[in-house]
Amino acid sequence: MAKYVPPQISEQQGVEQQTLAQYLFEQQFQCSAEVVCHAPGRVNLIGDHTDYNDGFVLPAAINYGTTIAASTREDNVVNVYAHDCGLQTNNFSLHDISFDKEMMWSNYVKGTLQVLLKKHPEIRGANLVVTGNVPQGAGLSSSASFEIAILKAFSQLYQLDLNGVNAALIGQQAENDFVGCNCGIMDQLISAMGKKGHAMLLDCKDLSFEDAPIPDDLTLFIVNSNVKRGLVDSAYNLRRKQCEAVAKYFGVSALREVTMAQLNAAEDKIEPELFKRARHVVSENARAVMTLKALKDNDMSTISMAMRESHISLRDDFEVTTKEMDGLVEMIDSVLGTKGGVRMTGGGFGGCVVALVPTALVEQVKDVVNSRYEQEFSLTASIYHCTATQGAFR
Ligand code: GLA
Repeated sequence: MAKYVPPQISEQQGVEQQTLAQYLFEQQFQCSAEVVCHAPGRVNLIGDHTDYNDGFVLPAAINYGTTIAASTREDNVVNVYAHDCGLQTNNFSLHDISFDKEMMWSNYVKGTLQVLLKKHPEIRGANLVVTGNVPQGAGLSSSASFEIAILKAFSQLYQLDLNGVNAALIGQQAENDFVGCNCGIMDQLISAMGKKGHAMLLDCKDLSFEDAPIPDDLTLFIVNSNVKRGLVDSAYNLRRKQCEAVAKYFGVSALREVTMAQLNAAEDKIEPELFKRARHVVSENARAVMTLKALKDNDMSTISMAMRESHISLRDDFEVTTKEMDGLVEMIDSVLGTKGGVRMTGGGFGGCVVALVPTALVEQVKDVVNSRYEQEFSLTASIYHCTATQGAFR
């Protein structure tokens, strides 16, 4: 048989991934998949490290995601082929789920199904083929899109009564309790409930959300610094603990309940590093809400200012950027000025920056990245032109 050449990633990749997943399923299991599901990755426009503080975030689901072709099985075995994780396969029984130190990717399947089983003990096994094009470790939520795609596949295979918000909570619990990252709810919720052409202001306290259209003349421009992220989970979990310590000092459930005036008044009683962490969260919440309004009013200079200040706050107060991310932001900002916005996106410690770029400036932004990044940092950046897509459960 002729060697199979996977299709190139393009704007149509959602469709192409479905074809690829079905094709690979036939190769693996010698029959057609009963369902093919897709869940998107995400980019966060503003509001980072606020979700686990009951705060506000403004992400959009993007046209890079995870696709799963799946069929039911009569027994309790889950048989997974991960095309993009070294063509590996992993088999396990739903009655015997344990953490796998070798095949880390399989823990997203195992953790998600372990939590799902508690709510839906009626599920049985499945044959699964997974393929995805969210760059891993880039801050674009490859793991959340994987969890949500698994949940979508099982909900279709077994006709589960599962809505997007509940799916997101299951995915988050899998990461918290099984994988070991104490992430918030943002990534899973936007992957499940994003709306095409829109960003979403999500209130992480009560999980209510509002969609805001991204103006047609703006490009969602994402640049991957391609800095390998190390020890991310432990640094992330530490940030979360630090935020919780300040909330505890104020006697509230989360930093969402603390105002900037209260925080400033207590400055000399809080350890300087913890004070800075909290100042980021409190100010970032205000910026996320401000950016939603500015997006609705098409007020680019406010968006621009909010994104710039968000980056500075993540760099100086929350200390989760890298010099490469700071460099990319500075380069892109030098072209955009008040005509667009740019900042790091996601958890940080490497990964991507996001820019809202007027279509007329896209080439200039590309040129500045291509001419300066490699020269200054000896790394090649990857550029992704994104569009906001629909979540898996919307
Ligand atoms: C990661 C987590 C999210 C969120 C972001 C930072 O992506 O999974 O829950 O905390 O970092 O905003």
